[in-house]
Amino acid sequence: MKATGQVVVVTGGASGIGRALAHRFHRDGAKAVVIADIDLAGATAVAKEIGGNAYRSDVGKEADVAAVIGETERRFGPIGLFCSNAGIAAGFDLEGENVAGASDAAWARSWAVNVMSHVYAARTLVPRMKGRGGGYFLITVSAAGLLSQIGSATYSTTKHAAVGFAESLAIAHRADNIRVSILCPQGVDTAMLRGLPRGPQSQDGVLSAEDVAAAASVGIERESFLILPHPEVETYMRRKTENCDRWIGGMAKLLRKTREANG
Ligand SMILES: NC(=O)c1ccc[n+]([C@@H]2O[C@H](COP(=O)([O-])OP(=O)(O)OC[C@H]3O[C@@H](n4cnc5c(N)ncnc54)[C@H](O)[C@@H]3O)[C@@H](O)[C@H]2O)c1
Repeated sequence: MKATGQVVVVTGGASGIGRALAHRFHRDGAKAVVIADIDLAGATAVAKEIGGNAYRSDVGKEADVAAVIGETERRFGPIGLFCSNAGIAAGFDLEGENVAGASDAAWARSWAVNVMSHVYAARTLVPRMKGRGGGYFLITVSAAGLLSQIGSATYSTTKHAAVGFAESLAIAHRADNIRVSILCPQGVDTAMLRGLPRGPQSQDGVLSAEDVAAAASVGIERESFLILPHPEVETYMRRKTENCDRWIGGMAKLLRKTREANG
């Protein structure tokens, strides 16, 4: 599908990849672009840049997600493309004594924002999309959801869960003409990456958010489930499935090297 003529919602659109997606789909000719973010000032600034609309929304709360969808459709008409992009990187600790050591609060918040946000969006939108013959979900996950995230079990686990949900959504509602893509980059030059310790996510080059948005635009036009802005990820996925034990050993070595490099 093309964004041209569509009503588009981008969660986490105040910054980084979400901001670039909002700009990209505006340039692709979307009928309306709605930016939903917990940071209303940031969302309003991006909305001003593209003549879009901003809402304050915490995607970890079902009522907030449902409200954005309801309000958007009331004002602009049916949502054709819902970009469930907002995410958080919590519980990063390269030196952690115990990989399960992140607090319950970090796990719960990661689960709400990185997983349940997508469930909430689908819970409200799937019946509406079914009723009008289809729609599209673009879910920003991460290569960490396909491979792993060195240094954060919370991020890795919740991003894997997001892939699991996206697969279920795509399979269960294919016959309803609902299409799903998962956007799975490695390092992208955003506030999130800048706040993290340097790790293997940057080893194949850090892309700009604009490059990632361009890959997303092509990916949804092709209706590809898997969008890999870093092509190397496909090779890593193949290596993982070909010999999982060797892959785990290689990742453990990478963790050791990353710790050494970070002193
Ligand atoms: N930057 C990377 O290297 C990278 C790589 C792979 C995947 N991702 C994923 O890309 C997505 C966007 O991240 P980014 O790198 O652009 O980061 P970012 O920090 O620049 O932007 C994230 C945006 O999400 C918003 N947000 C956070 N929690 C929210 C909530 N509960 N409700 C609504 N909005 C919320 C923030 O206010 C911010 O505007 C995330 O899902 C992230 O996991 C990032």
